[in-house]
Amino acid sequence: MAKVAPSLLAGDFLKIGEEIERMAAAGADYLHFDIMDGRFVPNITFGQCILKATSRCSLPLDAHLMIVEPEKYIDEFAAVGAEIITVHAEACTHLHRAIQQIHAAGCKAGVALNPATSPECLRYVIGDIDLALVMTVNPGFGGQKLIPAAADKVADIKRMIDAAGSHAIIEVDGGVNTKTAPALVEKGASLLVAGSALYGAEDARAFVDALHAMN
Ligand code: DX5
Ligand code: ZN
Repeated sequence: MAKVAPSLLAGDFLKIGEEIERMAAAGADYLHFDIMDGRFVPNITFGQCILKATSRCSLPLDAHLMIVEPEKYIDEFAAVGAEIITVHAEACTHLHRAIQQIHAAGCKAGVALNPATSPECLRYVIGDIDLALVMTVNPGFGGQKLIPAAADKVADIKRMIDAAGSHAIIEVDGGVNTKTAPALVEKGASLLVAGSALYGAEDARAFVDALHAMN
């Protein structure tokens, strides 16, 4: 069964608590936080204060750091309640050290790859990570169309995980909906981030059920 992580970025910020609990009631498994700094990506979203407030909600928090020098903030995001902390390979000069830092802070460690980044950069850390996040759009904005080549990257990483005997799971992020998800799940993705399609769905429960049914 694939798990579902709604991206809060697509919710109504004026009623953030309700928007989270609406997703929990629909059966979502995590709450995905798109943290952007206006440097690694063009957009600026939210930071520690919002994450801290929302850690009182009923869903575990999946923090996707689209920021430069994420090492500076790992401990803070861990302290305010993130269960998973994902850093971008492109943003880390010392990726292995960042992964160790996330674990030392008591969180699950994820590494995200932009669409043009080769899965090869995961080869020597594949046994150390809990999650590989394949960006299926260019990071920075919600509501974009999925880049089809990303599905092949999911398959490549799945092969790498299996060959190494790693326990890492694959998360996909960007342009995920009930039409695009099946090919990604078939290639090995098991955690699906969904923003605009899920928050905009007429029936969020039916949307989550449809993704849960994929394997
Ligand atoms: C893009 C973000 C995604 C995005 C997902 O930078 O990482 O989480 O907001 O939103 P949709 O599903 O609308 O593409
Ligand atoms: Zn994200």
